[in-house]
Amino acid sequence: MLEIKDLQIHYGSIKAIRGINLKVPDGSIVTLIGSNGAGKTSTLRAISGIIKTAGGSITYNGENITNLHPEKIVKMGICQSPEGRLIFSNLTVEENLLMGAYTRKDKEGVKDDLEFVFSFFPRLKERIKQLGGTLSGGEQQMLAISRALMSKPKVLLLDEPSLGIAPLLVKTIFEKIVALNHSTGITILLVEQNANLALSVANYGYVLETGEIILEGKADELAKNEEVRKAYLGE
Ligand SMILES: Nc1ncnc2c1ncn2[C@@H]1O[C@H](COP(=O)(O)OP(=O)(O)OP(=O)(O)O)[C@@H](O)[C@H]1O
Ligand SMILES: [Mg+2]
Repeated sequence: MLEIKDLQIHYGSIKAIRGINLKVPDGSIVTLIGSNGAGKTSTLRAISGIIKTAGGSITYNGENITNLHPEKIVKMGICQSPEGRLIFSNLTVEENLLMGAYTRKDKEGVKDDLEFVFSFFPRLKERIKQLGGTLSGGEQQMLAISRALMSKPKVLLLDEPSLGIAPLLVKTIFEKIVALNHSTGITILLVEQNANLALSVANYGYVLETGEIILEGKADELAKNEEVRKAYLGE
C-alpha cells in the first residue's frame, strides 16, 4: 500500500498542497481528480521524489519514501508517466522504451517486457523505429505509459492520460489501463481532470481542490455525488 499522510507542498510562499491524506491499496485503481491548479501533478511529483515535500509523509509498504532520490523510488517499484508525456523526441519508439528500463539489469526480462507492452499497444510495435517526436499525441501517450511500464513498476502513477487526445483513443487507452490492472495486478494512481472517465475505471476516488481533499469515496458513489456532478461532470 502507498500511503500519504498530511502531505504538504510549498512553492515559495504558495502552499500548493495543504495536508492531504490518501491511500492506494495494492492492486487497486485509485483516482485523484480536480481542476487546473488543484495540486494533482504536485502530489505525483512528490511521490516520485521529483519535488521536495514541506511536511507529512509518504510510505510504501510501511517504508518511509518521503524525499528519497527519484531513482531509488523507481527501483522500489513506483514509476510515473508524466503529464504532457515528455517522451524523448529524437529517440525512436524502441529507444524510448529502453530508456524506461535503464535501472534494470535483467536483459532477458527487458526483452520480454518489450513484447509485453507491444502486445498491449500494437501500434507502438508498428512504429518501433519511428522517432518519438513524430508520433501523434495519442501514440505519444501510449509510449509514455509503456515507457513507465518498462521499469516493471508495482505502482504506476498516471498524470492525465486523457489530455489532448481524441475521445475514441482515450477510450482505448483507458481500456488498456484497466486490462493492465486486471491482468498484472499493478496498482494505479490515476490523476485526471476528466472525472467521468476516471471514476468509471477507478475503485476509489479523491477530489482535490486548491490543495485540499474535499471529498473521497468509492468511485461509483462519487460519480453519483451531486457536488461532484456539479463541479466536475458539467451538470
Ligand atoms: N514549480 C512551481 N513553482 C511555483 N508554483 C508552482 C510550481 N509548480 C506548480 N505550482 C503551482 O502549484 C499549484 C498546483 O499545481 P499542479 O501542477 O500540481 O496542479 P494540477 O492539479 O496538476 O493542475 P493541472 O490540471 O492544470 O495540471 C498551481 O497553483 C501551480 O501554479
Ligand atoms: Mg497537472
